[in-house]
Amino acid sequence: MQITIEKVKDEELKPLFTDATQLGFGKLFTDHMFTMVYRKGQGWVEPKITKYKPFQIDPAAVVLHYSQEIFEGLKAYASEDSRILLFRPEKNAERMYHSAERICMAPLPVEYFLEGIKTLVNLEKRWIPKAPGTSLYIRPTLVGLGAALGVHPADEYLFYIILTPVGAYFKEGFKPISLYVEDVYIRAAVGGVGNAKTGGNYAASLLAGAKAQEKGFSQVLWLDAKERKYVEEVGAMNIFFVFGDTLVTPNLSGSILPGITRASVLELAQYLGYRTEERMISIDEVIEGTKNGTLTEAFGTGTAAVISPVGSLFYKGQNYEINNFQVGPITQRLYDKLVGIQYGREEDPFGWVHEIGRL
Ligand code: PLP
Ligand code: COI
Repeated sequence: MQITIEKVKDEELKPLFTDATQLGFGKLFTDHMFTMVYRKGQGWVEPKITKYKPFQIDPAAVVLHYSQEIFEGLKAYASEDSRILLFRPEKNAERMYHSAERICMAPLPVEYFLEGIKTLVNLEKRWIPKAPGTSLYIRPTLVGLGAALGVHPADEYLFYIILTPVGAYFKEGFKPISLYVEDVYIRAAVGGVGNAKTGGNYAASLLAGAKAQEKGFSQVLWLDAKERKYVEEVGAMNIFFVFGDTLVTPNLSGSILPGITRASVLELAQYLGYRTEERMISIDEVIEGTKNGTLTEAFGTGTAAVISPVGSLFYKGQNYEINNFQVGPITQRLYDKLVGIQYGREEDPFGWVHEIGRL
């Protein structure tokens, strides 16, 4: 792939953030973006890096009417010895490929995804923050263009990558969060698109998320669509429960996102000697565990959220604390190990980390 690079002139570059500890999540964008287009008959063409700027798209574009949109999220990390690291980027590329197939989009070949990211991140390396817990969040996005209002897959697609230096996803940082167990609204149903990373799933989650936040909760814990009985996942994370030395997480039923952090934590936990179970887990079992003390810890996993301890669950009008709203030892150990691997401080026996350049 030959990427055309139109660099922003030095005097037009944006000023860098001054305090990396105040970044928050996804508010500041870098100078450049990567774009590539798909046209019927031509395939994927015109890979380009240009200034980060607004797009002009037709008001009848398929994405604007029928939500043909998917995205990914991964991070570039600066190691202490000045390497630029990505964590399992091929997994994001593969997931985006499957998401595309699920909503009838032209899938982007994995190698274009990876090459686009490597080139853009290297060009933008001054934006990779170095303060503890910070990173450069990478948002690859694919949208259906074309201009015709009949319900149909688009015949033209735009793939783009934007970058944003980030700190913690939750304002709490690495501290326990409170979740609202949602037993009215649902996020996704088996047979639908819950396991694709498509924007519509997030639109569907907004109302419940906003109501939960109004009541002071960080996010919603979703239950299954059919019976509101089994735990699914959190707004932007998968969920794990710790019962003694066993980690339990819902199985990939088709309605939850197959998280890359989830898969990594399962492997890491087994490596560290914990038992793991992927299975259906009822909310009653979880609540019972908080009451009788067998549920010792809970945490969410996600690229943005990393590993986020869960300190309490609010279900049917009652609040249930987990581990006295403290970070548990297993959560802490998994967090330290995972983050250590991601930032290149810890040995990586799994081959998860890819060095893509130097600062
Ligand atoms: N579930 C949802 C709904 C998400 O938005 C995310 C974040 O990407 C995850 C789970 C975790 O996925 P990953 O670990 O691949 O970031
Ligand atoms: C991520 O963790 O990358 C996500 O996509 C979560 C969220 C910001 C949508």
